[in-house]
Amino acid sequence: MNAPAKTEDFAIKIPDGVYAETVLSVEHYTDHLFRFRMTRPAGFRFRSGEFAMIGLMVGEKPIYRAYSIASPAWDEELEFFSIKVPDGPLTSHLQAIKPGDTVLMRKKPTGTLVLDALTPGRRLYMFSTGTGIAPFASLIRDPDTYEKFEEVILTHTCRDVAELKYGFDLVDEIRNHEFLNEIVGDKLKHYATVTREDYPFQGRITTLIENGKLFADLGVPALDPEIDRGMICGSSAMLKDTKELLEKAGLTEGANNKPAEFVIERAFVG
Ligand code: A2P
Repeated sequence: MNAPAKTEDFAIKIPDGVYAETVLSVEHYTDHLFRFRMTRPAGFRFRSGEFAMIGLMVGEKPIYRAYSIASPAWDEELEFFSIKVPDGPLTSHLQAIKPGDTVLMRKKPTGTLVLDALTPGRRLYMFSTGTGIAPFASLIRDPDTYEKFEEVILTHTCRDVAELKYGFDLVDEIRNHEFLNEIVGDKLKHYATVTREDYPFQGRITTLIENGKLFADLGVPALDPEIDRGMICGSSAMLKDTKELLEKAGLTEGANNKPAEFVIERAFVG
């Protein structure tokens, strides 16, 4: 019989260039969605909206996937919002984590959903589907977002109402946060829709942009490249279709080294 693994044995297995952090809390929303918070390494810097490579030791080997950091840059902890894929190489294991467990994170965060990649504007749209809300969970809790924009519109579309809960909890958290609530005021609007259940707000975001219902519901004018900026995070198909609509409205895609009117990033799965 093998002797039980000692802490020293485990420590030897942590690869170089990787942080080993401790899970602090886990919340399951549906059979497919959960979030977790973990310790933030001293010296780990990132810009709100960026992603990092998150991993677990599975047997002898680490497995990593890209995860948007859902907590804002000022937060002492790190938060992630994840799907659960029954046979996903990482999420089949990650969904079972408990407080006290170790999660790996590669040291260098990156990403294009950052305020620096946008030219100045008045209104910022954050278009998300499913776990694509994660980078925006970071940005809507960052005071810089409200310094740069007069109005921030977070759209979140999911198949079912239960999948919207993370977004509603986020907005509640902001409203109950002493300092953030003061900074955010009435600048943040949360527009949540579902596509496969009865709900007062229904439809894909692309449909709601095209037929103008999004703007009518919010009481804002149609997209205008002089005023509006956009960030998009969702599945590849959602990115492509939303991007086409923004381009049709005259907005151009930007990047870190070439800021413009909108930026996109895939909602990662695995
Ligand atoms: P739908 O139910 O009509 O497919 P998924 O879980 O497949 O990523 O979908 C998450 C949400 O994104 C669903 O509400 C889905 O709507 C919507 N969606 C899927 N594809 C697109 C697309 N190409 N453009 C806009 N929304 C999309």
